[in-house]
Amino acid sequence: MSFAWTRLVSSESFRLTAIFTSVIIVAMLGLMGLVYAITHRALETELFSAIDRDIASIQSGYRAQGISEAKEVITQHLYRGASSDFLLLQTTGGRKLAGNLPVMNPRLGRFFLRLPARAATPEGESLRILGEGVMLAPGLYMFDGRNLDLVSDAEEDVLAASLWVLVASLVLAVGGGLVLSHLFLARMDAITDTCRAIMAGRFSDRVPERGAGDELGRLVRTINAMLDRISGLMENVQQISSDIAHDMRAPLTHLHHRLERALSEARSEDEYRAAIEHALQETDLLLGTFHALLKIGQLEEAVDVRSLPRLDLSHLLEEMVDIYRPVAEDSAHVLTGRIAPGLWIHGDRTLLAQLVANLIENARAHTPAGSHITLQAERHDSEVVMMVRDDGPGIPKSEYERVFRRFYRLERSRTTAGTGLGLPLVAAIARYHGAKIALEDNAPGLIVRVGFVPAEGTR
Ligand SMILES: Nc1ncnc2c1ncn2[C@@H]1O[C@H](COP(=O)(O)OP(=O)(O)O)[C@@H](O)[C@H]1O
Ligand SMILES: [Mg+2]
Repeated sequence: MSFAWTRLVSSESFRLTAIFTSVIIVAMLGLMGLVYAITHRALETELFSAIDRDIASIQSGYRAQGISEAKEVITQHLYRGASSDFLLLQTTGGRKLAGNLPVMNPRLGRFFLRLPARAATPEGESLRILGEGVMLAPGLYMFDGRNLDLVSDAEEDVLAASLWVLVASLVLAVGGGLVLSHLFLARMDAITDTCRAIMAGRFSDRVPERGAGDELGRLVRTINAMLDRISGLMENVQQISSDIAHDMRAPLTHLHHRLERALSEARSEDEYRAAIEHALQETDLLLGTFHALLKIGQLEEAVDVRSLPRLDLSHLLEEMVDIYRPVAEDSAHVLTGRIAPGLWIHGDRTLLAQLVANLIENARAHTPAGSHITLQAERHDSEVVMMVRDDGPGIPKSEYERVFRRFYRLERSRTTAGTGLGLPLVAAIARYHGAKIALEDNAPGLIVRVGFVPAEGTR
């Protein structure tokens, strides 16, 4: 057990323990004082009521039959009574008539009497007697008292008992405080250890969750969730950079060789120009690849689509048709739009334009001249469905899944320009929008179907 006393003592929970313990001590001391005072009062009251009873019986004896009867009562009493009882009957002149006390100066009322050690007490201690002096008759004095040590004994018992309770509660308070502090610190240590491990590069470490639903448990779960999120983001960034590094190496090397060859082999200005033009085309392609890879990587994290701005998809698609119709005409394609009005979704305008552009580009690049391309959009029950259809060669069903892989191109397309990143980027943008994407057979041709989540309040 790594039990660091200094740390424990300086911990917040220990400080709390110390405060609680002090409060307990003060409360216990107060309680003890109260119990002591009450006990003392009770014992004293009891003592004096006994004394008053004695005095009354001696007085009535005296009144009835005179001194001899008073003496008799006293003697009887001392004979029968407890050893703690002390009685004295004397004249004010100083002559002892009865009792077990030496003659004293007559003093009235309640008072303490200190007697030097008597032979009777084995310990040889002096006696403290509390009692009351009264005049039975003029010239006739009597004192009735009790050994106070007995009273004190009872009080001491009470005190001792309270002291034990005090000690026991102290031990419990301190012990409990230490245990609680230790448990608390152990959980804090777990958090610290995990943070250190992560700083040291062990990104997969997590704070152990002990299933406690308390504040600390919640903190631990939040920390772990945060770590998950951070490591997810980091993995993503790492993935993007390593993908880009990997995917760009081959074309860059290729470009390098081509330029090198041009340098050593080109003779005329025309040949140089041709080489440079070729190189420019390749860098364009490279930039396109780079851009697409980066985008795909960034879109890996899904968002809550409702947090994206509302957007009129119909309007956007009409615009796309207007922009791409002339481009399609250039390659002898026919682009038509069949777009229902007022289709609202949540989305990122630029990304959605990119998605549509990629699909139209594909329908243009991978179909023969004269093919028809239709951009279609309509509201289905719980979806806004957008379709790009063509009547070209289509894609075999067995390839539907593979064409969404990065750099994958059908065998017949290897000679056409392209990066093989168009559909993967389309898929990433769709996923980002929480949209479902599917390929279908247009017999002949291809249908790319994208089902968007409609914006609320639209029908
Ligand atoms: N409309 C289409 N008709 C036929 N084949 C297609 C169509 N769209 C895509 N393809 C095939 O899917 C492959 C992957 O498409 P894509 O990811 O956009 O890459 P790229 O267009 O750069 O080749 C293409 O190479 C092509 O073989
Ligand atoms: Mg493409």
